[in-house]
Amino acid sequence: MALPLQRRVPSNIDDLRENFTAAWARTDEIFALISPSEWAATPIVWRHPFIFYVGHLPAFSWNQICGAILQWKSFDPYFDDLFCRGIDPDVDTGECHWHPDVPEEWPNMADTLAYRDNVRGALLESLEALDRCGSTDVMARRGRVFQMVLEHEFMHQETLLYMLQQLPLGKLRRPRPLPQYSFQRAPASRSVLIPSGRARLGAKFSEALFGWDNEFEEMFVDVPSFRMDSLPVSNGQFFEFVDSEAYDQERYWRPEDWRWKNLERKKSPTLWTKRDAGWFYRAMFDLLPLEQVAGWPVYVSLAEARAYASWVGKRLPTEAEWEKAARGEDGRKHPWGSDEPTSAHARFGVSSRKPVYPDGVSRVGTHPKGMGPFGMYDLAGNAWEWVADWYSATFPRGESQNPKGPDSGTAKVIRGGGWMDPADRITTTKRMYLNPNESLQDIGFRCARDPK
Ligand SMILES: [Fe+2]
Repeated sequence: MALPLQRRVPSNIDDLRENFTAAWARTDEIFALISPSEWAATPIVWRHPFIFYVGHLPAFSWNQICGAILQWKSFDPYFDDLFCRGIDPDVDTGECHWHPDVPEEWPNMADTLAYRDNVRGALLESLEALDRCGSTDVMARRGRVFQMVLEHEFMHQETLLYMLQQLPLGKLRRPRPLPQYSFQRAPASRSVLIPSGRARLGAKFSEALFGWDNEFEEMFVDVPSFRMDSLPVSNGQFFEFVDSEAYDQERYWRPEDWRWKNLERKKSPTLWTKRDAGWFYRAMFDLLPLEQVAGWPVYVSLAEARAYASWVGKRLPTEAEWEKAARGEDGRKHPWGSDEPTSAHARFGVSSRKPVYPDGVSRVGTHPKGMGPFGMYDLAGNAWEWVADWYSATFPRGESQNPKGPDSGTAKVIRGGGWMDPADRITTTKRMYLNPNESLQDIGFRCARDPK
């Protein structure tokens, strides 16, 4: 049985210890789904083999807490360096930050697990040591570094799960209990008018217990009126695009997206497959008739999202538009307000004490209490959503009128969090980024357009 992922604000060392123990238990539960023969597998070309993540999670923990702040002597500097490599889209262009080369051969599992266990032991000791160390590092204050390390653990649980979904079914260990799927149809999406006016973007560092640096500091911008759909695009809606053969018509694609589609020989979203009996959808542990999951959000690359939007005469929202739709002007933490998420608000990591993987997404528009300030649903959890802007780590971007992000980049912004994320990763200010040609199993989109 999975342990709860929802973090309480740690009031004492015992809470922190419990949070870390629960997070590690879930990590181990996810690793246990991988057949031993698959540790070296890389089902997604942009990611490392599974074995890397066994070492990466403790290496990051050690480097951030025991190394950078406590300055403890490492018991394995080689592993600290080897496993600290990131997964940035530009990590191999030399344009991001220093990182070690990929080794010819990754260390064996026994040595990697021994390293992991040593680091976990040290981290538990660090919970008390941090208060006493007298560090002036901002990450030492209020235990921020612990929150960052927990966040990192959750982030890579998501990495592992979307890698697992792209392994052949026979190479996964099927869990017990078996998945419980929900196959209801989606309600109709509405086009909602958002009036022009101020939008509050970003988080206040002084008020957040934790946030990645890319979501600070709070700013206000002016956003002209626009329309946005009340729901993300569903598999059923996207099927109409594929079934009508519009998916294969160049006029709906941007030139760079069309080139990518042809290079990849894409005929449908990554998780769809056509058999004699019709279209099927690859869920984590099952191949399901696509018709059954018509109400689930579609997972596509940015290129596919833009082509669909063009087909229906719409576009993707800018990041500022998306955030305005999700939080209005009042700085709310979640689209529905300040209440902590429950299963009535959103689909997220652990809405209950179920294992993390079974039913995954829910159909769009399922959560009646999750409505945002303008009447939209699913702006937190279920599926991350592509927005139009190139990613910039510096936020805000210095524009006060209708900001549209950088002119170019290597990654696009995604917002809102997905079904695998814990409760505190589905806030209105959380930002992540992804190579626009990637298609993962928790990233969808919704359409926007200018008002007529
Ligand atoms: Fe990482």
